[in-house]
Amino acid sequence: MRIVRRAVAGDAPALARIESDSPSAAGWGLAGFESEFRQERALTLVLEEDGSVAAFACARFLPPEGQLLNMACEPQSRRRGVATLLLNALFPALESHGCDVVTLEVRASNIAALGCYGKAGFRIVGRRPKFYNGTEDAILMDARLNHEK
Ligand SMILES: CC(C)(COP(=O)(O)OP(=O)(O)OC[C@H]1O[C@@H](n2cnc3c(N)ncnc32)[C@H](O)[C@@H]1OP(=O)(O)O)[C@@H](O)C(=O)NCCC(=O)NCCS
Repeated sequence: MRIVRRAVAGDAPALARIESDSPSAAGWGLAGFESEFRQERALTLVLEEDGSVAAFACARFLPPEGQLLNMACEPQSRRRGVATLLLNALFPALESHGCDVVTLEVRASNIAALGCYGKAGFRIVGRRPKFYNGTEDAILMDARLNHEK
């Protein structure tokens, strides 16, 4: 069974483990996740599959803007709609905090993430040349949240 829930500080080791299997994620490490849980404007969701955490999405709300900062799904659970479920839950959660747009940046080479974000409703709005380590471009995306729902 799958459930999406708000993360709690005790989830930090599971998030760091999933991230360590995901080189294209943000690379926060355990200390980074622990620090994120202390941020007032952090909104982190996890997806549990049969009782264990399989994926996470870390966002911040700075109304009217939300930012998706880090996201990953454990390798054995990929391409089964897990990230899509998380994003579908993240949007109304950010809306409830007063956001009407969500922004993110992603490596130009990250085809899986670009596809996933595009499917969830993000569109490309810009590009930062050589943003990552002075070599790789960042693609800037945003998604408008629907207040009519
Ligand atoms: C990006 C990531 C979170 C997607 O998670 P996921 O649960 O596998 O995604 P979903 O199953 O919900 O896929 C949604 C859509 O994304 C696209 N997609 C996902 N994986 C893809 C891949 N390997 N190649 C191409 N498109 C892909 C597809 O359009 C897919 O829809 P479809 O399966 O109906 O074709 C996952 O690949 C991951 O954890 N990557 C490593 C960490 C990372 O790069 N994070 C993002 C940057 S911070």
